[in-house]
Amino acid sequence: MPQLKYQRPTGTHDLYPGAERWVDDSDRRAALVETFRHLCRVYGYGEIRTPVFEATDLFTRSIGEGTDIVSKEMYTFTTKGGDSLTLRPESTAPVLRAFVENGLHARGGVTKLFYVATHFRYERPTKGRYRQHEQLGVEALGSDDPALDAEVIELALAFYRRIGISELTLKLNSVGSALSRAAYLTALKAHVEPHLGEFSEEGRARFAHNPLRMLDTKNARELEILRAAPALTEYLSDEERAHFETLCRYLQDAGVPYDLDPYLVRGFDYYTKTAFEIQAPSIQTAQNALGGGGRYNRLVSEIGGPNTPGIGFGLGIERTLLVLQEIGADMPPAPGPVAFLVTQGERARPVGVRILAELRASGISADTAYGASSMKAQLRAADRARARYAVILGDDEVAQDVVQLKSLTGGWQHAVPVAEIAEWLSGGRAPS
Ligand code: HAM
Repeated sequence: MPQLKYQRPTGTHDLYPGAERWVDDSDRRAALVETFRHLCRVYGYGEIRTPVFEATDLFTRSIGEGTDIVSKEMYTFTTKGGDSLTLRPESTAPVLRAFVENGLHARGGVTKLFYVATHFRYERPTKGRYRQHEQLGVEALGSDDPALDAEVIELALAFYRRIGISELTLKLNSVGSALSRAAYLTALKAHVEPHLGEFSEEGRARFAHNPLRMLDTKNARELEILRAAPALTEYLSDEERAHFETLCRYLQDAGVPYDLDPYLVRGFDYYTKTAFEIQAPSIQTAQNALGGGGRYNRLVSEIGGPNTPGIGFGLGIERTLLVLQEIGADMPPAPGPVAFLVTQGERARPVGVRILAELRASGISADTAYGASSMKAQLRAADRARARYAVILGDDEVAQDVVQLKSLTGGWQHAVPVAEIAEWLSGGRAPS
C-alpha cells in the first residue's frame, strides 16, 4: 500500500460500523452507551454534558500537581486570548465545576449525574491505553452515606453484568482524609527513607513533594518496598473506619464480593474515604482496570462550592470492548435493514423510491442500491447489507400495483399489494 497522506494521531481510534476490532466498532460502542444510559435512568441518574476543554487550573488543582496526569499527560494550550485551557483528561472535576456554576446544589438532596465523555491523556499508547478514550461515568453529590457508595459500586457492577462480563474483581480501599493521611504519610516516609537510594528520580521527587503518589508507581522494586510499608487503613479515624466498615457490610449484604487492597490510591489527589477499582482478570494486558472511582468529600468546596460530599466512577469503554471481544461475548453486530428495494426498468425506479420513503416513514428500516445496476447486483447488495427482505419491483409489478416480497433468509417469495407491504414487514404477515 502506498504511504497514506494522512493518518489518525497516535493513540486514537476511528469508529465505524462493522469494524472487525470491536474497539473500533461504532455500533457495538453505541449499544454499550445505550445500555449504560438506560441503567443510569433506572438508578435515578440524569445526564450531564460539559465542554471538552476547561481552564487548566481546574485540573491541576483538583487532580493534583504531583499526579501523572497533571505532570505528564495533559493536552494544554494557550488560546489566542491568552487563556490556558486543557482538553479534559477526566470528567469528575468538570462535572463538579458545572454542579457549582449552575447552582445544582441549591436543589438540595442528592444530585445524581451520569456522563458519556471523551477524555485526552498524553500517555504511551498500548493495548487498552490510548491518548483519546471514552468513559461512562457517574457522580453522586450531596451525601456521605455509605449506602450511596454501595449504590454507585453496585451500578457499575450491574452494568458489567448486563453486558455479559461477570468475571470481575472489585478492589476496595479507604484512603481517609487529608487529616488522617498526614500521620500515615509520616510513617510511609519513615519506612521508605532508608531505601530512597533504590527509588527512581520520579519516586524521590514524589517522596519529597507528594508522598502518597509513590504508591502509583509501576516500578517493581519500589512496589516491593512500598508493600512492606504500613497500610493507610491502619491510620483511618474512627469515623472513617466506621464509614468503610458500613460500606463493606452493605456490599456483603448485597452479595457483592470484593478484595481489600490497602495500597489502592488511584492516581488522583481528590479522593477521600472510599476508593475502588474494577479489574477484569480476563484482559490480556497490564491495563486491566476496566473502571475505577471513589469519594471526594472536599472537592466541591475546593472548586469554590459549598461543602458537598460526593462519590463517582468512570468506566473505560475501550477496555470494556476489548474484554467483550476477548471473552467472545454474545454481542451481535448491528442488524441490517428490514427491507431492501430492488428495481428493474425505468418505470419501476420512481415508484420504488416512493415506496422506500413510505417504508421509512412507517418506521421500517429500508435501503436500496444507488447507481444503475443489474437485478443480480442489487440482490448481492441486499445480501451484503444483511437485509431481511428484498422488495422487488419491475414493469409488471408497477402495472399491477404490487411488489415481489422475497425473504432473503427463508427462501420464499410473494406478490404483495403496495398498500400492504408495511403491514407484511412489521405486522408479521410474512411467513418466517
Ligand atoms: P481513571 O481510573 O483515570 O478514573 O479512569 C477510569 C477508567 O477509564 C479506567 O479504569 C480505564 O478503563 C479508562 N481509562 C483511563 N485512561 C485511559 C486511557 N488512556 N486509555 C483507555 N482507557 C482509559 C477517572 O478518570 C476518575 N475521574 C473516575 C472517577 C469518577 N472517580 C470518581 N468519579
